[in-house]
Amino acid sequence: MRAIILAAGQGTRLRPVTLTMPKPLVPVANKPLLHYAIDMMRDGGLTDIGIVVNSLESPICAQLNDGSTLGVNVHYIVQEEQRGLAHAASLCRSFVGDEPFGMFLGDNIFQDKMTELMRQFESSPYDAAVALGEVSDPTRFGIAEIEGDKIRRVVEKPKEPPSNLAISGVYMFRKSIFDAIANIKPSKRNELEITDAIQYLITHNGNVQAYKIQGWWIDAGKPDAIIQANQLVLGDLPFSPSPESEHFVQSDISHRVIIGENTKVINSVIRGPAIIGKNVTIQDSYVGPYTSIGDNSVIENSELDASIVMKDCVLRSISGRIDSSLLADSSEVTSASKKLPAVHRFILAENSYVQL
Ligand code: G1P
Repeated sequence: MRAIILAAGQGTRLRPVTLTMPKPLVPVANKPLLHYAIDMMRDGGLTDIGIVVNSLESPICAQLNDGSTLGVNVHYIVQEEQRGLAHAASLCRSFVGDEPFGMFLGDNIFQDKMTELMRQFESSPYDAAVALGEVSDPTRFGIAEIEGDKIRRVVEKPKEPPSNLAISGVYMFRKSIFDAIANIKPSKRNELEITDAIQYLITHNGNVQAYKIQGWWIDAGKPDAIIQANQLVLGDLPFSPSPESEHFVQSDISHRVIIGENTKVINSVIRGPAIIGKNVTIQDSYVGPYTSIGDNSVIENSELDASIVMKDCVLRSISGRIDSSLLADSSEVTSASKKLPAVHRFILAENSYVQL
């Protein structure tokens, strides 16, 4: 079976990180968000994957190429204007042909791998299936009202939500969805909503399966959500003993810490769960639980907890512990000169966020 991933969004809520990196490539536990969706699809038997990007120049195409390193065949479909999820899906009509297919939103991450949902849909009696997760803020999502295993009604970002069951970003469809999309009108935000196309199926006697997801689910559209996703993924790391290497000197490294090749840990403490990339230097520092550090970064004389530091970053001589932070590639945080006047100094991109 084929599948599509919608990954053309601008990621505005994640600026400035997304000014240079599309949201689906933001790393969670040192792995791009998009790889989590692809791993799920491959394990569910969906190996021919069309990714909707906003341009063939997107770094997503260069990063994934033909998908062979992840064990899938990737094709690219371009959505030049962001006219909604249903519009993006309609562009995939010829890619999916007449067969049932899966559709994933490229910025969602799940504990539930939904393998059964994907494997059983083709032979199921349903016209569509939608993965639903409970949320505390249902006005921000597409919301479903269910009866048994079936969805009775769906509504996009309702002011008065009929339930707290949110449409979570994994859908299974048959070709009937394209006819539904052709019959809906743009919403108030001027987008063709996939929720409206699903409601069209229901109104026209379609059977839509309600699949309740197990475990956690994050719509990783904002910095806090990305940091939370990183904590949840690292929290699921299985037990591994403290790593050992000749590159670790006078350091205390706990269990559930994954460390890449050629990384040096000197006079430091690392508490898991944590993941550290290749060629990293950690010296005279504390790296606390739920932290991910990308390749080639340098952490010196600093303390950090529950944060994502991407690749090629430098953190040097920071007083006070850094917590719940997100540093994109090649960011640098060092201490200003100790000479008076005591200063803070910033060179920040648009939408940067600093809390001192
Ligand atoms: C989109 C969908 C919504 C769904 C959500 C899941 O919302 O329109 O139905 O619940 O993704 O992440 P958006 O992220 O465009 O606000």
